[in-house]
Amino acid sequence: PTPTRYEAESSPATCDGSIDSNHSGYSGSGFCNTDNTTGAAAQFTVNAAASGTATLEIRYANGGSSGRPAAVTVNGSSAQSLSFSTTGAWNNWATATLTVPVNSGSNTIRLAATGSDGLPNIDYLDV
Ligand code: GCU
Ligand code: CA
Repeated sequence: PTPTRYEAESSPATCDGSIDSNHSGYSGSGFCNTDNTTGAAAQFTVNAAASGTATLEIRYANGGSSGRPAAVTVNGSSAQSLSFSTTGAWNNWATATLTVPVNSGSNTIRLAATGSDGLPNIDYLDV
């Protein structure tokens, strides 16, 4: 089925930082620029038609020189950790794909930085 897009700048999504639009190529009206600190998060509320697993596509840009590690939690439970590799520039966007367990209905998906650089800039989540 066609994924649903959840923009990082659209409520009820939250961003521990600012919604910015100073690097081109984003979808919607901006992206989440988290504070560059451990624990800084972007959080999404997503709907799943059925319980089981869901494929998440996270669009991001990491113009820094090293990967930015993050922990993904779903409904408060640790689901996965990953590192968002550098994309070379802040206006180069890439997609990270992961599979997580979900409940039927509403789910809270939280991406939290586990490194002191914070998250990469986060554009959206496709589910
Ligand atoms: C730069 C860039 C931001 C980015 C930040 C970072 O300031 O303009 O968009 O979030 O670096 O290193 O996280
Ligand atoms: Ca940042």
